[in-house]
Amino acid sequence: MTAKLIDGIGLLYTGDPTGAEEIEHAAMVVEDGRVVWTGSAAEAPDADEREDAGGRCVIPGFVDSHAHLVFAGDRTPEFDARMSGQPYTAGGIRTTVAATRAAGDAELATRAAALIAEMRRQGTTTVEIKSGYGLTVEDERRSLEIASGLVDDTTYLGAHVVPAGTDADDYVRLVTGEMLAACAPYAKWVDVFCERGAFDGDQTREILRAGIKAGLQPRVHANQLTEGPGVRIAVELGAASADHCTHLSDADVEALAASDTVATLLPGAEFSTRSPYPDARRLIDAGATVAIATDCNPGSSFTSSMPFCIALAVREMRMTPLEAVRAATYGGARALRRDDVGVLRPGSRADYAVLDAPSYVHLAYRPGVPLVTSVSS
Ligand code: NIG
Ligand code: FE
Repeated sequence: MTAKLIDGIGLLYTGDPTGAEEIEHAAMVVEDGRVVWTGSAAEAPDADEREDAGGRCVIPGFVDSHAHLVFAGDRTPEFDARMSGQPYTAGGIRTTVAATRAAGDAELATRAAALIAEMRRQGTTTVEIKSGYGLTVEDERRSLEIASGLVDDTTYLGAHVVPAGTDADDYVRLVTGEMLAACAPYAKWVDVFCERGAFDGDQTREILRAGIKAGLQPRVHANQLTEGPGVRIAVELGAASADHCTHLSDADVEALAASDTVATLLPGAEFSTRSPYPDARRLIDAGATVAIATDCNPGSSFTSSMPFCIALAVREMRMTPLEAVRAATYGGARALRRDDVGVLRPGSRADYAVLDAPSYVHLAYRPGVPLVTSVSS
């Protein structure tokens, strides 16, 4: 086994708020895909190989804990219409469903892999992928089979919307029955779009409970477009994450703060739907754990860029640069209940990104500039 010393790190952001979160003039030793040592460069141990980071900032690879990457087609006209004043309704999901059903497996897999590669170039080393653009037993199953060939964290989102021309009760029976049985072998998580026009509170509980019974862990699309019961249900069922959290009551904020459920904020969605951003300050000040993710999908947020989302979080959601980078690494890992990623400390995966900048602050200070120079392989 070869140990490699990465020396000359101007600033190491470790992503570990419980330990030394930032180390100046740092070094890191990696061996066999794992971090074995981090600390001050002056105290670095010997290693077989040495790489000089040239004073750059090193951060954990971003953990993008919310993405919808298995789809076909494009919704440029819908975005264009929105930018001319049309509101976002989520009704466009059905456009992507039609295109996805019509696509072959190879096309879907190739497109998802291309998006993962695009994310990686921007520093993301862990990504979660949801189904939800199939909405038949076979189309949801194959979406998850494709996703599970690409990433570890796969999410069954048969309950994205009720397909056109289908009775809602019949569809919930399908999602909790035959579709769940076909999808569970390929999924780790179960998710529901709990929203007016999608699934109500009772349906959300029923679907999440069925998923839990089938061995999946819950997460929820909650309170995106309206203040509904999604966050409360997520906390009640011990979900790893309540995602969006755009419209929250005081009780929702308190419930999140008192729980292990992460509030995952998706500012790319507010950007692309021209909507008010979630109030990250209120959540952080109350004591909630916050994550940032891209929500990459062809409708409400067609960005694959965590740096872009960090810049939005800082500018539009009143997060500090430190809070934003923490939310994109440690927060994402908490939202996926993973201890091995989003952090650089002995034992964690050696998943890191090198920034062509002296500090992670530049992710927000230099928005839109491609600062990620390399990502560990
Ligand atoms: O997270 N909110 C529901 N699902 C996606 C939107 C999907 C779409 O518009 O295609 C979201 O924003
Ligand atoms: Fe989403």
